Amino acid sequence: MNPVEASFSDVRVVVHDGVYEPAEDTLMLCEYLDIIPGETMLEIGCGCGLVSIVAARNGAAVVATDKSLAAVQNTRENARRNALLDKIDVRQGQLFEPIREEERFALIVINPPYLPGTREDPAYDNAWSGGLDGREVIDAFLAQCTNFLENDGRVLLVQSSLSNTDKTQKALDTLFHSSTIKAEKRFFYERLLLFEAQRPRQATY
Ligand SMILES: C[S@@+](CC[C@H](N)C(=O)[O-])C[C@H]1O[C@@H](n2cnc3c(N)ncnc32)[C@H](O)[C@@H]1O
Repeated sequence: MNPVEASFSDVRVVVHDGVYEPAEDTLMLCEYLDIIPGETMLEIGCGCGLVSIVAARNGAAVVATDKSLAAVQNTRENARRNALLDKIDVRQGQLFEPIREEERFALIVINPPYLPGTREDPAYDNAWSGGLDGREVIDAFLAQCTNFLENDGRVLLVQSSLSNTDKTQKALDTLFHSSTIKAEKRFFYERLLLFEAQRPRQATY
């Protein structure tokens, strides 16, 4: 089967079978990246790589990770197609496992699997099922993200109103000096929120 195609601005990508197809959440992240040329960015869960490629296109030095081998291979292929393979270091692994202990980033972004859904559900999918309350990956990410940020670094996290956004807001308030909802999109069954948090405190979640 031919791969599906997706795009943002002048970046075009292909999306192979078994890899998350860019959707409203992906485009929201692309739209609000606000890259400062030369800064370092880490994307956790890069899927087909559209967000990472947009960031690299805007001047970021990117590390893109995903636990799925298909996603990692798809991101490398799309980075090559967009002549940005030298700007995106693609690594396979769970959350921060592929990141060296001493590595620090100006920006960390994540569009996690955020919908409630367990492995017992027939429709379970690694790309969007975040466990019983939808927070498995979100909470694990929040518990570790500040360890890999520069002192004035920031985080962008997309989430649905279906997986307790108040809990995320409280965690960000504890972990960061400032946090806001940078963008919001309403659908008839949920809201999509883009959180931005800046300057990590020495706090734990
Ligand atoms: C909702 S998709 C987002 C993909 C892409 N960032 C986008 O916005 O189109 C979530 C991605 O996270 C990956 N993922 C899920 N759990 C993960 C984990 N624990 N560590 C790393 N990646 C994970 C999935 O394989 C999937 O590619």
